[in-house]
Amino acid sequence: MTSPKDRVVIFDTTLRDGEQSPGATMTHDEKLEIASMLDEMGVDIIEAGFPIASDGDFAAVSEIAKNAESATICGLARANFKDIDRCWDAVKHAKSPRIHTFIGTSPLHRAIPNLNKDEMADRIHDTVTHARNLCDNVQWSPMDATRTEWDYLARVVEIAIKAGATTINIPDTVGYTAPVESADLIRRLIAEVPGAEDVIFATHCHNDLGMATANSLAAVEGGARQIECTINGLGERAGNTALEEVVMALKVRGDIMPYTTGVETTKLMAISRRVAAVSGFPVQFNKAIVGKNAFAHESGIHQDGMLKNAETFEIMRPEDVGLSETSLVMGKHSGRAALRSKLKELGYDLADNQLADVFVRFKALADRKKEIYDDDLIALMQDEERTGEDRIKVDRVRVVCGTDGPQEAEITLTIDGEAHSSEATGDGPVDAAFNAVKALVPHKARLQLYQVSAVTEGTDAQATVTVRMEEEGRIVSGQSADTDTVVSSVRAYVNALNRLLVRREKAGKDAREISYKDAG
Ligand code: KIV
Ligand code: ZN
Repeated sequence: MTSPKDRVVIFDTTLRDGEQSPGATMTHDEKLEIASMLDEMGVDIIEAGFPIASDGDFAAVSEIAKNAESATICGLARANFKDIDRCWDAVKHAKSPRIHTFIGTSPLHRAIPNLNKDEMADRIHDTVTHARNLCDNVQWSPMDATRTEWDYLARVVEIAIKAGATTINIPDTVGYTAPVESADLIRRLIAEVPGAEDVIFATHCHNDLGMATANSLAAVEGGARQIECTINGLGERAGNTALEEVVMALKVRGDIMPYTTGVETTKLMAISRRVAAVSGFPVQFNKAIVGKNAFAHESGIHQDGMLKNAETFEIMRPEDVGLSETSLVMGKHSGRAALRSKLKELGYDLADNQLADVFVRFKALADRKKEIYDDDLIALMQDEERTGEDRIKVDRVRVVCGTDGPQEAEITLTIDGEAHSSEATGDGPVDAAFNAVKALVPHKARLQLYQVSAVTEGTDAQATVTVRMEEEGRIVSGQSADTDTVVSSVRAYVNALNRLLVRREKAGKDAREISYKDAG
């Protein structure tokens, strides 16, 4: 029997720390959808956003709080009353709300608000007390804890506990710690700080040295009972601890780590794909648990062993993480009912009018591609969702390419309901096509990333293209899939431009000028 002490609370911060990653901005509806998937898969706490950052963040956190069925909904607040009040106004709608307030305690972070140790200690006492007067469930974090002097860290943790914090989170903000140190720090805090036995200790690791998962699991060995993590390890720089990695590590190695989580692991693959799609951050092929190659056995020796006994090279079954054998689904003779039922199996429950639209696109794809797999349908659905309310739509793309340059492109776009065409040349067909788009939609954005990957195998495979662009500090991503790589590239580019237009519009009324890194 597992005692309650052996239960590790999973705190997901995909929608806060993950979304903070430059370019990973999600729309309101996307945030709601991810939150509902997290809730359904048994994540204990969802950090839904940073309510003071913008009206958009506030609205998303409030609505997620209203909709949540079983997860606790948490919002982030810096160490000041205004942030904390705004956070409470957003999370208070939840059946189980939490306020998470923090301040940078290391010497480098103390210098930013220019507070000395005593002044910061007073600020911690006052803000945690204020949060606790609003909400019974208060988490406090000393940002950059792993680079904070031990004496000062112990002192401020004690102050936060006395002021009413119920969870103490120990962030490794810059991914600096190592497993032995991570375990020791939590162990020592629990052993030496008065009142530690009355709170839960949490671990929040970043992956700058590739040790976030190991550091989080070590912290659990040291006594932490909450792991903070994100889907696909999404997050600034090298990202945060990946939820799927810690959850599966605890499940597969229960023999040496006897802790349980409430996460339904068969839902991991679906949420990983969804987060990759809406954030515009594709999952690397060899990523543990959810990468395309995580369960692929290419070499002859491995294949032979797998056929005889899957356990020879597999420590977990693909179905444990929700990966079903990629099946050949349909071709151009498949009907509407078959498409509806296949999409339902993949998690898309469509109304009749939506199905009618998707069916047209499915038929067009089936005309160009003989065999349509699950992944093709997922890519098609993601494209469908992306283009819904876009101001710019791609009508026609035609390129001339080959060994003799310059390559040429002709493009027709519908912009706010009106068709516009242009022609351009470039260094290759994609460059020519992008130049033609730019002639119709002038912008100063700089292309930061252009990435192509095949959805399935074969020369008729769809290509998923991801584009990331930056304009005046605003970073946006776009994605699309098509059997024609140039068409897919233009659609991804236009998808990113549509997001840029939304961000430009919002910037006037709702600039995200506030950074969570400003302590006060
Ligand atoms: O990494 C960090 O320190 C954070 C805090 C706000 C908890 O994300
Ligand atoms: Zn963080």
